[in-house]
Amino acid sequence: MVHPLRLLPASGPAQTPARGGEGAAYPPEGCTIHCPFSSDRKERLLPSGLVHAWWGRGCTRGSFDVSHGGLSLSEEHRLSAFKSFEPATRKFDKVNICSSCLQKTLKCDTVVSEISTGPGTVNFTINKELLAKTVLQQVFKDGSEYGIKSELFSTLPRRKIVIEFSSPNIAKKFHVGHLRSTIIGNFVANLKEALGHQVTRINYLGDWGMQFGLLGAGFQQFGNEEELQSNPLQHLFEVYVQVNKAAEEDENIKKLAQDFFRKLEARDEQTLSMWQHFRDFSIEEYVRIYKRLGVHFDEYSGESFYQEKSQEVLKMLDTKGLLQKTIKGTRVVDLSEKRDLSLSSTVMRSDGTSLYITRDLAAAIDRMKKYNCDTMIYVTDKSQNTHFEQLFQILKLMGYQWAERCQHVSFGLVQGMKTRKGEVVFLEDVLNEARSRMLQNMASAKTTKELENPLETAEKIGLAALIIQDFKGLLSSDYQFSWDRVLQSRGDTGVFLQYTHARLHSLEQMCRNGQSTDINTACLQDPQAISVLQHLLRYDEVLYKSSEDLQPKHIVSYLLTLSHLAAVAHKTLPVKGSAPELAQARLRLFQAARSVLANGMKLLGITPVTQM
Ligand code: ARG
Repeated sequence: MVHPLRLLPASGPAQTPARGGEGAAYPPEGCTIHCPFSSDRKERLLPSGLVHAWWGRGCTRGSFDVSHGGLSLSEEHRLSAFKSFEPATRKFDKVNICSSCLQKTLKCDTVVSEISTGPGTVNFTINKELLAKTVLQQVFKDGSEYGIKSELFSTLPRRKIVIEFSSPNIAKKFHVGHLRSTIIGNFVANLKEALGHQVTRINYLGDWGMQFGLLGAGFQQFGNEEELQSNPLQHLFEVYVQVNKAAEEDENIKKLAQDFFRKLEARDEQTLSMWQHFRDFSIEEYVRIYKRLGVHFDEYSGESFYQEKSQEVLKMLDTKGLLQKTIKGTRVVDLSEKRDLSLSSTVMRSDGTSLYITRDLAAAIDRMKKYNCDTMIYVTDKSQNTHFEQLFQILKLMGYQWAERCQHVSFGLVQGMKTRKGEVVFLEDVLNEARSRMLQNMASAKTTKELENPLETAEKIGLAALIIQDFKGLLSSDYQFSWDRVLQSRGDTGVFLQYTHARLHSLEQMCRNGQSTDINTACLQDPQAISVLQHLLRYDEVLYKSSEDLQPKHIVSYLLTLSHLAAVAHKTLPVKGSAPELAQARLRLFQAARSVLANGMKLLGITPVTQM
C-alpha cells in the first residue's frame, strides 16, 4: 500500500545539502516519494533506483512542512540507516493536518528525542547517543565490510563478471589512456569483488599484427639480447622506432617485415619462438610494474590468441548470411537500420586476414564459453566507443543474447601528462615521476616524519594523488593534467587523504594503551563529532551509487568530505589532555573514521600509508 503521505521534491522548504556538494543531488528532481516510514522497502525506492529514505534513515534534525497539502521534508543533515526509525507518524493519514495536531500525534521514542512545531512545520531531533552507539558498533563489527553488509545490497544477485582492462600493445607506447584503463578497471574489479561478485581480471594485450613483422625484422638488425632481458619494454620500443624509420627509407626492410609476419601467421616455429620470447619478457616486466600499482590479472590474453578463431567467426558470419562483399573485396557486416549498408563494420581485409574487431568477436565468444559469465566489461578510452557498440551489435546479430549484458566502460582523454623526460612512453616513467616529485615535496615539508622507507611511502602517496585526480570527475570527462595540482597537500587531493589517514593512524598509535571498546557515547555529542558520525552512516549509499553507475567520483567525494570532517573534529575535540572517558570516546570516533577512510581508499586502488 502506498502511504498517503508524500514528500515533495526540492521545491519545499530549503534542503540543506550535506558538506562536499554531495547533498545537492538530494532529492532528485521531480521525484515523488512515497512514505518513507513504510516498512515496505519498495516504497522507498526512488525512480533512480536508489534506496533513499532520506528522512527515515535518521536525520538528527528534520522538519515536515505541512503547508503544501503534501508533506515535504527539509533536513539539516542526511543520515542513513536508521531503519528502526518508526515514530508515531505512521498512525496519521490525513495530509492537511495542522502542525500542532501532528505534534500531538507524534510521540518521542527511543529514536526521536524531541519534537516541536514551528509555523507549518513539525521538527524532530533524533537521539544522538543512539546514533553514536549504532554507527560505531556497526563500523567495528563489520570492519572491512562496513557499508557492504548494508541492507542496500542484501538483495543484490551475485554474478560472474569478466573485466578486461589495461590491455597495452607490446612494443608500442604505454600511453596515459592505458594508465587510466588500468586504474579504472582495477577500481571496477575491486568494487565488484567487494560486493560479492566473482571477478576475473583479463589483460588483452596488443600482441599481434604487422607491428610484430617490423619488430621481428628490426630485432634481427638492431636488437640486443642482453638489453632485451634487462629492459624489455624499453628495448623493444626502441627497436620498433628504429625499424619504423628504417622502413620508411628502405623498401627492403618493409619486405623483411612482411616476410616475418607472414611466417608468424603461418606458425613458423622459429619465428613463433622469437615472438613468444618478446611477449614473455614483456609480460614479466608488466607484472612487475603492475605490482607497483597494486594491480594484478588472472589472465594475460591477447589478440594473438584469436588469429585462427577469427577465421571461424568469419565462417559463422557467412553461414548466418551476415557477411557482405564490397567492391574493394573486403567483407563487411551491415549494421544499418534499413539494411542498405549505410552503416557497416569491416571484418575482413581483401587478402582474407582479420581485423581488430574480428579478433574481438572471437575473443568475446571464447570468453563467454570459458567463463560462462553473466557480464563482460571492457575498459578503454572513449575513442573506442563505436568499436564496442559495433562489437556488441554484431554479437547480437549472430544470435548471442548475452551481448546485451556486455558493457563498455569508457573514459575521457588526459591532456598534458609529461614527465621530466618528456612525453609519457612507459607506465613506469609516470610512477617514477610521481614518486620522485612526492619525495621532493616531503623533504621540503616541515611536518614530514623520519620514515623507515621514504621511497615506498612516496610511491603510495604519489599513486593516491594520481588516482584521486583521475577519479574526481565523471570518467567520460577529459581533463588537463598538472603535477602541481595533483600533488598539492591541501585541498581535494590524494595527498590529503593519505595525510588524514596517517594522522588518524598515529593518533591511535599514540594512545594505544588507553584504548577501550566500551565507551560512553554521551561524550560524543559535540556537533563536530555528530557530523562525522552522520557521514559515516552514509557510506553504504555512496557505495551503492558507485556500484550503479561505476563512477568512482561518489566515493572520492565522500572520502574527501570525511577527511575534512575528521580534520575539523580532530582540531576541536582533542584526545590528548582530555579526561580518560572523553579521550576514549573520541579516540573510538577517530578510529572509526580511519577505518572507513581506509576501506574506501583500498576500493579505489590506494594503499593507505600509516606515516608521512
Ligand atoms: N590494445 C588496445 C589499445 O591499446 C586496447 C584493447 C581493448 N580491448 C579490446 N578488447 N579491444 O588500443
